[in-house]
Order: sequence, then C-alpha cells, then structure tokens
Amino acid sequence: MAKKNKKQTTHSEVEPEPNANNGDSDDYSHNKKKFKKKKKNNKIPTVTIAVPASIIDNVPTLELATRLAGQIARAATIFRINEVVVFDTKGNPDEGYLVNNSSEDESGAAFLMRILQYLETPQYLRKALFPMHNSLRFVGLLPPVDAPHHLRKHEWGPYREGVTIKERDSNSGATLVDVGLVKPVIVDQTLEPGRRVTVAMGANRNLDSDVPRQVVSSSKPREEGAYWGYQVRYAHNMTSIFKDCTYKGGYDFIIGTSEHGQIIKSSNLEIPSFRHLLIAFGGLAGLEESIEEDDNLKGKNAHDVFNLYLNTCPHQGSRTIRTEEAIFISLQYFQEPISRSLQG
Ligand SMILES: C[S@@+](CC[C@H](N)C(=O)[O-])C[C@H]1O[C@@H](n2cnc3c(N)ncnc32)[C@H](O)[C@@H]1O
Repeated sequence: MAKKNKKQTTHSEVEPEPNANNGDSDDYSHNKKKFKKKKKNNKIPTVTIAVPASIIDNVPTLELATRLAGQIARAATIFRINEVVVFDTKGNPDEGYLVNNSSEDESGAAFLMRILQYLETPQYLRKALFPMHNSLRFVGLLPPVDAPHHLRKHEWGPYREGVTIKERDSNSGATLVDVGLVKPVIVDQTLEPGRRVTVAMGANRNLDSDVPRQVVSSSKPREEGAYWGYQVRYAHNMTSIFKDCTYKGGYDFIIGTSEHGQIIKSSNLEIPSFRHLLIAFGGLAGLEESIEEDDNLKGKNAHDVFNLYLNTCPHQGSRTIRTEEAIFISLQYFQEPISRSLQG
C-alpha cells in the first residue's frame, strides 16, 4: 500500500480540540440520572500514548498482527487513553514491511491505525465508515473494546455516536442520522451523508416523534465525565510525535518508558499538573534507538527528550518485556500517579 495519511487524526468529525477526563473515578453510565456533570470547563486533561509501528512489522502473519493491534486498542480503552500516536522511525519509514501480501498491502503504521480506528468505532457505524479491506479480514476474531460510547440497540444515553444518512426532505434543513437505534433520528442541520457525528439525544425517547436532536462536538460527553474513545494520529518519526501534536499548546509533560529508565515506586511518582500528558513506548530496540535514528534529535539522549524516563517493571524475570505487555504494565503503574496529579 499506500502512503500513510500524515497528520491524519480520527474520531468524530466535529472535533475542535480533543478533550477528555481521565481522572474521575465514577464511570459514565448509560442511565442519565447517573450521568453526572463532572467539570464545567472544557479544559479537561488528556493522556496520549505513542506506539511504534515497528511492532506490527515484526509480526509474521496477518492474524497475529490483527491480534496485536487489538491488544493495543483494549489497553487504550481500559486505561481511558484519549489519543494513540502511531510512529515510524528511520528504520521503518513508508516503504517498510507490508502487511497482507495482496493488492491491498499496507505498511505496519497504516495497518495499526486502521485496526485501532475500526475498534474504536461503535459496531453499528463500521459498515458505513469502513469500506471492506483485506487488513480487516481477521478483525472479527478480536474481543470488542466495549467502550461507553459503544451503546447497544436497547440502551439509552444522553449522547450517541452516529453517521449521517441523508437530508430528511429537500431543503428541510434536517438530516437523518443512524445512531444505532431501531430508527434513525433527525438532527436540525443539513450535513452531507457518511459523516460521523456525536448526537445529544435530549429528553424525548420517542423515536417516532419529529423532535430534532442536536449534533455536538465529540468532546462534549468527555467534558461531562464520560470516556468517549481515542483518536488516532500518525507520526513519521519521533520528532513528529511532539511537533505535530494537535492539542493547543502541545504536550506539557512527556514520559518515556524503558528497562533502562529510572526506578521509582508508583506510589512515590509525582507527575506535575498537566493538560496534555504523553507516554511513549519503544519497539524491539527501544526508544533510545528511535532517538538516535531521528536526525532532528542528533546528540540528544532519552533524558533530554523526556521529562521522565522510567522503568515501570523492575526485577523483570523475562529478559525482554514486549511493547504490548509494557503498555498494560505501564498504564496500570501510571493510574494512581495520574489520578493524584489531576486531583492536586
Ligand atoms: C522490547 S522492549 C525494548 C527493550 C530495549 N532494550 C529498551 O531499550 O528498552 C519494547 C518497549 O517496551 C517497553 N518496556 C520494556 N521493558 C520495560 C520496563 N522494564 N519498563 C518500562 N518499559 C518497558 C519500552 O517502551 C520498550 O521500548
């Protein structure tokens, strides 16, 4: 395949600035009563993970590559990650390993992004938003991420993800949106078909009524305390992870992970108050090699690039912890420090 879509980000299309809430302990509930307003302002901190595309390049079959991508999606969702940056290094740029071995070959990065985006999308929207592709051949084997915005047909929630179908009648100023219920709902805007949108469902649960619902920014449910999935972005090297950050002001605290990192007990780790936290993971050769391969980082080491460089699993019994394992281990390790930082 295929050049990767540089700077591509995904998720709901109405997305001025991604926001999310990672620090609140109460879960989003589909029951409106329990759907408490957590924070009025929309300056809700975000957590990003950066994951190397090379982890896919090192997998021998499409099925195993799919399972690996599924694990990353599950980890991101379980730990309420708001953004996943898939990065290449000089060792595996565009022309790198091609997954599939067919006319639909694509690089490890494009493949990983596709599976991550697919799994983040509620099931009822996938057919409309994801054309058939060979890379999706084994995706049906994966356990769902079962995120709060993946509502079932019988469930009601204050917000639902939807896809625009068509204008209700010509010049009606209203559009039909499939939000995964038995009938489409009407929104009071003219929108082109095939767009992913977040719909505020309002109080009226009668789907036969013509009461229009509202399209809102996909950050809206997050501002009210819900976890609403992750965005996916591509970075062509280490520098691009930081430089091409889509959050206003960039990442304000950056953590690298490695067996060579500093050992600090999770309970003693102080993460300063942040708006946009980034946690980076390396591939087979680690983040230090990715830094060395980046011409923009010549002469720099991990301690220059990251605010903290941490070993999150000291005394490991295996000689190597694989990236997908390190993501689960590290995100669990960071849970409490992040929570303390957000409360502080
Ligand atoms: C196969 S390991 C790379 C090992 C490599 N020798 C290195 O320098 O870290 C892949 C990735 O898993 C993560 N990782 C592995 N062991 C870790 C540990 N003990 N603590 C934190 N992260 C670890 C790091 O992100 C690392 O880049």
